[in-house]
Amino acid sequence: MSQPSLDAVVEPDETKGTLRIRTASVSDVESLSIYFTSLSTTTRNKRFMGARADLAVVAAECVAKAGHPDRFTLLAELRQEGQSTIIGETLYAYDAASRHGDFAISVADVFQRKGVGLKMMSAMERHASDLGHEMIAAETARANAEMRGLAKKAGFEDTGLGDWQSVHLAKRLSR
Ligand SMILES: CC(C)(COP(=O)(O)OP(=O)(O)OC[C@H]1O[C@@H](n2cnc3c(N)ncnc32)[C@H](O)[C@@H]1OP(=O)(O)O)[C@@H](O)C(=O)NCCC(=O)NCCS
Repeated sequence: MSQPSLDAVVEPDETKGTLRIRTASVSDVESLSIYFTSLSTTTRNKRFMGARADLAVVAAECVAKAGHPDRFTLLAELRQEGQSTIIGETLYAYDAASRHGDFAISVADVFQRKGVGLKMMSAMERHASDLGHEMIAAETARANAEMRGLAKKAGFEDTGLGDWQSVHLAKRLSR
């Protein structure tokens, strides 16, 4: 029987570690802050849609409501020789007014394009569906090719409601 927080265990190619996707708890705040600090400026700016200097505060916000029924943070953690390193995160929150979930995601620069983002998206969708949520929506910069590519591969569709700068994407979850 797996631990309740465990979403997926896989062997990422080209690394000797094990990738584990799990929900974050308040004890992860320091590691998450270190993770955000380690991101390149470009990745960080895309993740937060602008510059953020207060990364310890951001990390604390991500885990502050751990256990809240309508939001969660997933961490992608690489385990190598007994050491765990966060290499990706996804923050998910449900908006009761618009009746859909919203999310933000990042993967550490050197681990991008290895399938980690897609695995976190699948884990996020499973979690959201388990919570009874039926729709996930996202807004991303039109120029963000990697996020648009990831969303498309995950089955999100362009709702057509964006403008010249942003794209609005949505996916209905099957139960
Ligand atoms: C977006 C992001 C999370 C994707 O994570 P990732 O682990 O690199 O994505 P994956 O390896 O799972 O890629 C899955 C698919 O997404 C698409 N994709 C990923 N990177 C891409 C890129 N640079 N250009 C075009 N498509 C891309 C591809 O279709 C890819 O499948 P393929 O490799 O079989 O072609 C990562 O690029 C990132 O952290 N970007 C900066 C933060 C950000 O922009 N977040 C979104 C706003 S919150």
